Amino acid sequence: MFTELERRVVLVTGGASGIGAAVASAFAGEGAIVVSADLSHPGALEPSSRDGVWTARLDVADEDAVASLVADVGTRIGLIDTVVCAAGISTMDFAIDTTAADWQRNSDVNAKGSFFVAKHVARGLVAAERPGRVIFIASQAGKNGYRGMAAYVASKHAVLGLTKTMAVELAPRGITVNAICPGIIETPMKHRERIQGGALRGLTAEDIAAEDRSQVPLGRTGQPADVAGVALFLASDLASYMTGQGINVTGGMTMH
Ligand code: NAI
Repeated sequence: MFTELERRVVLVTGGASGIGAAVASAFAGEGAIVVSADLSHPGALEPSSRDGVWTARLDVADEDAVASLVADVGTRIGLIDTVVCAAGISTMDFAIDTTAADWQRNSDVNAKGSFFVAKHVARGLVAAERPGRVIFIASQAGKNGYRGMAAYVASKHAVLGLTKTMAVELAPRGITVNAICPGIIETPMKHRERIQGGALRGLTAEDIAAEDRSQVPLGRTGQPADVAGVALFLASDLASYMTGQGINVTGGMTMH
């Protein structure tokens, strides 16, 4: 569909599950070379069984590991020109019960990890004087408050702040920086949140799932592919005049 993506080298963090896995698959489907980097991949950078897809174990919160993987990809595959930062975690507790450790974990992975990955990919592009695309998977939690998610919400607000700042700084270099703000997407993370969030409110995961569905004007919760399609668009030439945006992908649940 997007022939310009065929020549891209795309790094997708969190590529082993949920939204990241769908994004990796969508870019591979367009003929891009994809590096799926995830804490749960077993080893160093290596080709996977799917043509054009490489995998690598990466902890995005470890800056040395991020820098080393970006350099390794540059040497063995080519300069990363498109990055989708989807690695993320969430913990659930009311703000007054949130521990320092949980606050730190959300901040380390979601905010600092996204920052490290975008920073090192963008440094490579700036050094090579090449244009590129940075796409963060933020969240509606980057725009609104949600009960029981203080640490996560704060970390995702940080991602949108980073999006806007990097967009302004990198625009003169021809690098666009945007965030996708999904609503309710059916992934392992969402299933865990329903169990933990339900427990906080005395509800079952099924109660929360029904509540989720009732909030979406389009009448269904999202699938990872709904987010992946927007990532393809943001990486494509069609989105060349967009930067610094937080794009809602919510089935109409939010409109601002
Ligand atoms: P998921 O749990 O299915 O996938 C997250 C992936 O990130 C996993 O493969 C995990 O191993 C990886 N990961 C976790 N910590 C990591 C680290 N330190 N380094 C590298 N990889 C790490 O979750 P899902 O739902 O696919 O989430 C993807 C992104 O989308 C996250 O940033 C999440 O906050 C965001 N999001 C998800 C929504 C949803 O409803 N599922 C809604 C809005 C945003």
